[in-house]
Amino acid sequence: MPFSVRRAVFATIVTAVAALATTSAALAGNGGFLPGNPHSPNAHRTIDAFVFVAIFTGVIFVAVESALILFVIKYRRGKRAYAAEGPQIHGAGRLEIIWTVIPVIILAAIGTFVFYKLPGIADAPAAAANDETTIQIEGHQFYWLFRYPNGAVSIDRMVAPANEVVHEDVVGLDWDVNHSWWVPDLGGKYDAIPGQTNKTWFEAPVGTYVARCAELCGIQHALMDAEVDVVPRAQYAAFVAKRASPAGNAALGKEEWQGVCQSCHRLDHVYIGPALGGNPLLGDAKGITSLLRGGQGQMPAVGHNWSARQIDALIAYTKQFSKGGS
Ligand code: CUA
Repeated sequence: MPFSVRRAVFATIVTAVAALATTSAALAGNGGFLPGNPHSPNAHRTIDAFVFVAIFTGVIFVAVESALILFVIKYRRGKRAYAAEGPQIHGAGRLEIIWTVIPVIILAAIGTFVFYKLPGIADAPAAAANDETTIQIEGHQFYWLFRYPNGAVSIDRMVAPANEVVHEDVVGLDWDVNHSWWVPDLGGKYDAIPGQTNKTWFEAPVGTYVARCAELCGIQHALMDAEVDVVPRAQYAAFVAKRASPAGNAALGKEEWQGVCQSCHRLDHVYIGPALGGNPLLGDAKGITSLLRGGQGQMPAVGHNWSARQIDALIAYTKQFSKGGS
C-alpha cells in the first residue's frame, strides 16, 4: 500500500473512532436524541411531530449514506486510467418517476401529520375559568420577570399551579431587545418581541422545569435562565398572596438583587459592570431609582417599568451592601 493511501486510511479510521467515541458523550450531554422530556400536552405533541419526521429523515439518511459508501467502493477507479470516461447514461424514466413520487408522498404525510397535531400545540384545551391562570412573562436584559393576576411579581422563578391550564403571555419591552422564552419540557420557544404579546400555555404535574432564553440578547444571554416551579394550587395561592403583600418584599428584593443586579455586578470586583460593594448608591433611593428607570452608559434601564414597591424592595435588600466592602 503506498504511503499516501496508508495515511488516508489511518486518518479515516482515527476520525471514525473519535466520532463514535464522542457521540455517546454528546448524546448524554444533550439529554439524548429527543428534545427534552415532555410534561405538558403541547410538549408531547411537539415530540410526536419530531419523532414522525425523524423516522423519514432517519431512513433517508441511512439509505443515502449506504448508497454513497457502496458506490464509492463499487465504482472506484481501480486500475482504470485517470482520464477514462465512465459510461454515459441519458434518461431513466421509471427511476425519475419513482424519485419524484416518493418524496411527494413523504412530504404529504409529514404535512398532514403536523397539521393534525398543530391545533393541540397552539391552542390550550378548554378549561373552566377558575381552573386557569394567566401569567405574564417579560424578557429583560438579563432576567425574566413574571407578573401574576393579583399583581405579584417574581424574578427568574415562575411559580404556577399544577394540573391546570396556565396561559403564558410572553411580551417584549420597547426599551429592551428581543428574547425568547423556552421551557423545553413544557413546549416550544416563544419570542419576547417589543410591541407584541405571544401566547402559549402548559398544563403540567408538580415539578421544577428548566427555562432559558433562546435568543442571543447580549453579553449575558447565556446566564438568562430561570425555572418554572409547578406546585399544588394551595401552595401557588399562598405564594402569590404573600408576594402581593408587604410580607413578600424581602424575598422580592433578594430575587431582584440576584436575578437582575448580579447578572452584571459583583460586590468585590469588576465583572461586566463595576463592583458595587460599599457603593453609597445602594442605599440611596433617589439615585438607584433613576439608575434603574433610565439606565446609564452601558447599563440598560433594567427597572424601567418597575413599581415603586419593586424598587423599595430592592433598596431594602441592597442597603446592607452600601457600607461594607464585600
Ligand atoms: Cu435574553 Cu438571550
